[in-house]
This record gives sequence, structure tokens and C-alpha cells, in this order.
Amino acid sequence: MTNEKAVPAYPQTGVASTCRSFDEYCAMFRLKPADLKGPVLDVAGGASSFTANLHAKGVRAMAADPFYEGLTDEIIATGYKEIEVASAKIAAMVASFDWSYYGSPERQREIRERSMALFAEDFRREDAWTRYFAAALPSLPFEDDTFELALCSHFLFLYADTFDERFHAAALRELIRVLRPGGELRIYPLVTLKWEKYPYMERVLGELEEIASHEFLPAGLPFTPVRSPLLKLVKKAGPTG
Ligand SMILES: C[S@@+](CC[C@H](N)C(=O)[O-])C[C@H]1O[C@@H](n2cnc3c(N)ncnc32)[C@H](O)[C@@H]1O
Repeated sequence: MTNEKAVPAYPQTGVASTCRSFDEYCAMFRLKPADLKGPVLDVAGGASSFTANLHAKGVRAMAADPFYEGLTDEIIATGYKEIEVASAKIAAMVASFDWSYYGSPERQREIRERSMALFAEDFRREDAWTRYFAAALPSLPFEDDTFELALCSHFLFLYADTFDERFHAAALRELIRVLRPGGELRIYPLVTLKWEKYPYMERVLGELEEIASHEFLPAGLPFTPVRSPLLKLVKKAGPTG
């Protein structure tokens, strides 16, 4: 996990709301059907169709993101715009990425457009408020011990220049609070937008030792210029502190 080829940073101001698909989530988090019995939380879910797909399968699934605050049409338009913006950025540094999963930038874009359309359809439904929660880490509007599985794709650790070590420690503690004992939190990737290993990982995990065990597992969605494992945390039984 070192940027030996000195690949330039991904040019990003603020946090983008991307729209990865259900299949991308299953690949990056190595999810099997048995992991998805629910309830499942997608934190920093953005315009991903993961929650929509799971809901369509009859699984209790929720997503939390400050992105869900505001007018439905504007939120959806922002999601579509991000596909354009991200595609242009990726095109400008196309050789830096690993295309073994997507095959080509065109195929990646097709996947994103399909995912965005599924998200938009679900987000417009009358009962969308029961799945999509406008909320920002490190504070989530859920009871203690609610979820069997929580996922965080492309937010924690990635935006290390915007969110400091204290934020990350508090965000992880909050995510563990809403997990059931024995429930899992999986986070990917563990590199920053400069393609460097997240620098405070040991310290952040050290603070959580009493409430969660952790392990690093190989992820299944090669793409970033520097490969990253995924982080899996399992909530221990007992008070969450
Ligand atoms: C790069 S997107 C990832 C979207 C989706 N998980 C995916 O993989 O396509 C990052 C998301 O983090 C959200 N975000 C920003 N600040 C946040 C916070 N404090 N708590 C939770 N999510 C946040 C953004 O609104 C954005 O939708």
C-alpha cells in the first residue's frame, strides 16, 4: 500500500457523491448472501444503488449520508453530474488505474449510470424516507445495536486531508455503537486520495480495542492505483461506551 509509482492525487475538492453499484459493493467488501440478511447500513451511501437493490430483495437496508438533505430532483441531478465529473477526471489519468475489474472506462461508466438510475428510482419512492437518512458522521440517527452489517465505501480514510484523526475515531465508535454485538463493519478503501496508506490507522484502531476486534482482508475490486485491503471490525459484546 505505498504509492511507489508516485501516481498523482485524485483531484477532488469537497466530498463527491458517487454511485457504485450493488455488484461493486459485493466485490469490494467480499459480501456473500449470508452476510446480507440485514438489517444493513450503508453509511456515506451517496447515490449508490446498494440500498435500493437490497430493499428490492426484501432485506431491511438503510443508507445514511448528508447528501440526502434537500430537494429530491436536485439530489438526483447532483448524482448524475458527478458521473460526468468523475469520468472526466478518470479519463485524464486513465493509465493510473487498474482496469481488470471494469474492463474499460466505458464499461465503468455504464455500470455507474445503471446504478444511478436505480438509486434515483428508489429515492423518488414515497417510502424512501424509511431507507435514506440525511445524517453525517460522527452522529447517526439510529438506536444502539441496530445493524448486523454496516458498510462504508469510499469515504472514511479516503478523505484524510478533510477529516482528521479525531473525526475518524469518533465515526468508527459511532458505527460500532449502532451495530449489534457480533455485527460487522466493513470499510474500503484504506488509502487516501493521494494513494497513500491512511496514516493514523493503528492509533484509531487502538482506541477501539475494547469495543471491536479488527482484521484486514483482501478486497475484491481492484481499481485504485495503489491496492488496498478492506477493514473488517466486529463489535464485541458489552457496553459500547
Ligand atoms: C465518494 S462518495 C461514496 C458514495 C458511495 N458509498 C459509493 O461508494 O459510491 C462519499 C459520500 O460521503 C458522504 N459524506 C460526506 N460527509 C459525510 C459524513 N460526515 N458522514 C457520512 N457521509 C458523508 C458524501 O455526501 C458522499 O455521498
